Amino acid sequence: MLKEQLIVRAKTILEQNWKNGFTIPTSRLYPFQWNWDSGFVAMGLIHYDVSKAIQEIQSLFSGQWENGMVPHILFHSEKETTYFPNFDFWQSSVNKGAPDMPKSSGITQPPVMGFVLENLLKVSGMHPDVVDFAKAIYPKVVKYHRYFYEYRDPHKEKLFFMYHPWESGRDNSPLWDESLNRIEIKQGDIPAYQRRDTSIADASERPTQDQYDRYVYLLQLGKKYQYDGPEIAEESPFLIQDSMMNALLIKSNKSLSSVGQMLDLDHGEIDEWIQESEKNYRQKFWSDQLSSFASYDLRSQEQIPMKEVGGLIPLYAGLATENQADQMASYLSDLHQNGYFLCPSFDVHHPRFDSKRYWRGPIWPHMNWMVAHGMVAYGKHELAKVIREDTVHLIENFGFFEYYEAQKDIAESNAHGYGGNHFSWTASTLINILKNN
Ligand code: GLC
Repeated sequence: MLKEQLIVRAKTILEQNWKNGFTIPTSRLYPFQWNWDSGFVAMGLIHYDVSKAIQEIQSLFSGQWENGMVPHILFHSEKETTYFPNFDFWQSSVNKGAPDMPKSSGITQPPVMGFVLENLLKVSGMHPDVVDFAKAIYPKVVKYHRYFYEYRDPHKEKLFFMYHPWESGRDNSPLWDESLNRIEIKQGDIPAYQRRDTSIADASERPTQDQYDRYVYLLQLGKKYQYDGPEIAEESPFLIQDSMMNALLIKSNKSLSSVGQMLDLDHGEIDEWIQESEKNYRQKFWSDQLSSFASYDLRSQEQIPMKEVGGLIPLYAGLATENQADQMASYLSDLHQNGYFLCPSFDVHHPRFDSKRYWRGPIWPHMNWMVAHGMVAYGKHELAKVIREDTVHLIENFGFFEYYEAQKDIAESNAHGYGGNHFSWTASTLINILKNN
């Protein structure tokens, strides 16, 4: 298919998922506004509709809490009842600083807004509307970042924890298995609930029931402490410094600092965050054993010894040495030469690799976009090209799905991708790649 035709299809999907001010990831499965999805969507929209790109982010920040947190889901409509956990289960009102409207979840997601903002300015060629918007939103993004250091960094390392797998954006990655298994659910610990996802998407491509019970348990724990109390860090059996989320915060801080310089806004505090977090990041997350970055479990006080796509994202934040970047690149080159599309979300050689199930193996286009940028930053242009070509190939051949089969021999007999269809960040990522961004 011609590049132009693919872009038209992508735009149509974004058009259909547009709900008067923001974009849903996909109808039925995810019918509200999601935090980091909106960031990637805005970077697609900016190529042809400046106003929508701005509205997308403004709408997300309309849900910002007084403590600075930007929630992972905004429930702009209370009439939509096909999603679990819905607004009535989250009860964001337990936190006095949560806005009445829109109602929201009580946790957050990977902080992408700093680099999204820099991207919108760059791609629009410093369009005056984007410049005005950037000036207005800048303090809100800074406040969001400050939230991580104030509420999520008990040891003052300028590295923050997450206490729910949904915050990581990689919901059921095998990385979280051990920590989740630590949770013992006794009768009466969690209320009765009904999942909705498995009646919409194939259950074999979704998290298991055991995992879901634990997700609900952690949600209840957060709610008990108004979603920001210090008791969360003290009591949560699941407490992890995610190597990807922390890398994205550093990347976003670096971008914010550049935006601050460009627009003559104060960035002193941000520069201090960068200095300290970068130093601690490099010390804490690199694993010689894995030849990759690894997340850190604050409960067991050790790295989680598993290789996954999130461990490659620090390249995008400039956190690797040249030698570390070489090691990560050679891992991907090997996969490329041995029957895999790039980049599988989890280590294909690990017994827990599952080429079909969500974050346990399949390929996610927006992750590929970041890894490709990371490779470019380290001069690995050939590899970045393969990642981009694989991404376009998958979308062109298997549709605009949520995620894709990583094994070429299995993909051959597949008619389409996995999870939700007509997916927004898949569409916006395709636009970005085809527009050479
Ligand atoms: C799933 C993904 C998460 C994404 C959301 C909406 O929960 O794991 O990363 O933000 O769907 O697309």
